[in-house]
Amino acid sequence: METLKEKLPYYLATASEEEIFEHSYKNKLPVLLKGPTGTGKSRFVEYMAAKLGKELITVSCHEETSALDLLGRFLVKGAETVWLDGPLTKAVRSGAFIYLDEIAEARPDVIVAIHSLTDHRRELYLDRHDEVIPAGDGFMLVASYNPGYQRGWKELKPSTRQRFVSYSFDYPRPELEAEILVGETGIEKNIAKKLVQLANKMRNLHELGISEAASTRLLVDAAKLMQTGLNARTACSVAIAEPLSDDREVVEALNDIIDLMF
Ligand SMILES: Nc1ncnc2c1ncn2[C@@H]1O[C@H](COP(=O)(O)OP(=O)(O)O)[C@@H](O)[C@H]1O
Ligand SMILES: [Mg+2]
Repeated sequence: METLKEKLPYYLATASEEEIFEHSYKNKLPVLLKGPTGTGKSRFVEYMAAKLGKELITVSCHEETSALDLLGRFLVKGAETVWLDGPLTKAVRSGAFIYLDEIAEARPDVIVAIHSLTDHRRELYLDRHDEVIPAGDGFMLVASYNPGYQRGWKELKPSTRQRFVSYSFDYPRPELEAEILVGETGIEKNIAKKLVQLANKMRNLHELGISEAASTRLLVDAAKLMQTGLNARTACSVAIAEPLSDDREVVEALNDIIDLMF
């Protein structure tokens, strides 16, 4: 039989996030993970759920995501209508973890739907089904959010933010980020370090007007392509430079930096 540890997704802690998450779980407090894309938020949630032996239900929120999508709906089956629990309702009933990825993208009624779960009540109101469901013992609500209001992205209201214990993710320290690349892809340490150096050069180029900096995810992708034998410059160009911008001049500038490094 597989032990739990063998099933743990790979995650390298960069600060005290594990301890903070465990204490939040013990105290039945919801957690909000803030930070730019590709910095390990989703991986961290998968890791913590596995570590704590919990089922994880993930909802990737987008601008059409509504409360009904989370709560459930009536479906017509032949001559009768049956109620079908949505992912949030399932998690509340069974005491699982629910992860609302990119919660600020969802419609405002989603925020309203989770209110009663994020305070002392810990109950879910299913108005449509005329039911109030107390959250199962191990239920935990985790959400992620990319605070990019400078870039015109959706913001969370202060009254919503104040319902969560919040933790900020950022690009890891160079030694740690290189270790993540090695751990995730098996790439040689020296190449991992070069990739991280490359990313940090790009991250400091504010004048290019790139809306989101090169993330750990992009470096992982480049490392994977290199590991299966793709030429380093090509790998970095298609996995890092191109995904960062659609502006030809910006991509050329990034390719020049890549050519200097590799
Ligand atoms: N601390 C970390 N430990 C292990 N892998 C990481 C870590 N941070 C980032 N990664 C890698 O980066 C990728 C993107 O991370 P992800 O969790 O999807 O980012 P986010 O949810 O913040 O957008 C992961 O698939 C993983 O390969
Ligand atoms: Mg994510």
